[in-house]
Amino acid sequence: MTRTESEPARRTPTRASALVRRIEAARWPLAIAAAVFVGCWLFAGLSLPVAALGFAIVAIVLLRHGDANGKPADRATGTADVLDPLAGYAAVADGLPDPCFLIDRAGNVRFQNTTASKLFGVVAKNQPISFVLRAPEVGDAVQRARATGATATVTFFERVPADRWFEARVSPLGDAGPAAPARPAVYLVLLRDLTEAQRVERMRVDFVANASHELRTPLASVTGFIETLQGPARNDADARERFLEIMAVQARRMSRLIDDLMSLSRIELKAHVRPETVVDVAPILEHVADAMHPLAIESGVELKLDIRDRPLSVVGDRDELAQVFQNLVHNAIKYGQSGGRVDVTAVSVQRGAGKPARASVTVRDYGPGIAAEHLPRLTERFYRVDTASSREKGGTGLGLAIVKHILNRHHGQLLIDSKPGEGAEFKVLLDGAENVT
Ligand SMILES: Nc1ncnc2c1ncn2[C@@H]1O[C@H](COP(=O)(O)OP(=O)(O)O)[C@@H](O)[C@H]1O
Ligand SMILES: [Mg+2]
Repeated sequence: MTRTESEPARRTPTRASALVRRIEAARWPLAIAAAVFVGCWLFAGLSLPVAALGFAIVAIVLLRHGDANGKPADRATGTADVLDPLAGYAAVADGLPDPCFLIDRAGNVRFQNTTASKLFGVVAKNQPISFVLRAPEVGDAVQRARATGATATVTFFERVPADRWFEARVSPLGDAGPAAPARPAVYLVLLRDLTEAQRVERMRVDFVANASHELRTPLASVTGFIETLQGPARNDADARERFLEIMAVQARRMSRLIDDLMSLSRIELKAHVRPETVVDVAPILEHVADAMHPLAIESGVELKLDIRDRPLSVVGDRDELAQVFQNLVHNAIKYGQSGGRVDVTAVSVQRGAGKPARASVTVRDYGPGIAAEHLPRLTERFYRVDTASSREKGGTGLGLAIVKHILNRHHGQLLIDSKPGEGAEFKVLLDGAENVT
């Protein structure tokens, strides 16, 4: 149970009302005993001690009789609940995982559950709910629930203590309908944090917008050239050759983008399923180095592969790991071309007693490097340090996002280290096969 300031508001009335009930129940037995006492002393002429004894005996007998009748009657009719509905509701509210408040008819907070205390801090006793949830939508929902006696739901944005989206459901508890306006009523204000759902939705919308934009640019170029070839350049053989070449480049770009989008969605589909096959990283690296060799030569880059431990067995998907290394080596050649050299180094890293060994693959270039502010964002979809240069080099902006997703699925890690002017180092860490449980 939360230690909140509103807790006494829940407990004190329970104790106070119990005391009131006891006094009320004892009123008549005490009055009868007092009458017996006065009668014995004044009218029957008995001595004071004897009259007092008579008072005590009558009072005890009547009080015990009253108690025996009273308790079961309270339980059966639920008197305590009628007098203090808050106590029961508060216990239920405190068990709810979502933040919630119990407010009275006037809109004052009478109780907040543990989650609400964590999120909004401790609310002072009987403070209006509008002091805590400042969005006017919540006030409107409370008004509506009060007027109609039905649940009112709103979505609102809170800036304090942090920017968050919430859904609030204001529900009358017990008999709170318009037919019973004078009765004490409690309203449950139940909140659902929509921030994460909104973030995911925004990412989805951004992703679709980015992907459409990436496709629209080459598509517009191809369409433009088609129109030119159908119109003004219809009979220009030279222009036709040049334009067809540009159209082919743009078509390949669209095709690469679609391939990367498909790759990403395939990997996302199995994001939570760790691969089960054991593969040796060494031959995968050799294959990637062979495949990248022509591009390295064409770019004037010396590609060096150094495998220091063999085998480098990991639990993984061969094709996906090849995709990881291919993306990293391709980037190193593309963006680090000016350095003239790319080193790929693979080693097994022991991590002390009891800890599993890991395969470490480092792709190092000696190009312009990357400024620190870009490093944390490099694996975001469509994030590029220099969009024009990436496009010019045939990039889609999805390569490192694919790398990150593949490594997440492998429970691996990608560490990026770079300083402007000093090249870049991309390190992949994968758990060794013999240690995977
Ligand atoms: N080795 C590198 N050196 C400098 N910049 C790099 C390197 N690797 C990646 N980048 C930067 O990271 C961005 C994202 O890379 P990536 O996701 O592979 O997309 P793409 O290569 O298709 O543009 C690139 O556009 C580039 O700006
Ligand atoms: Mg890339």
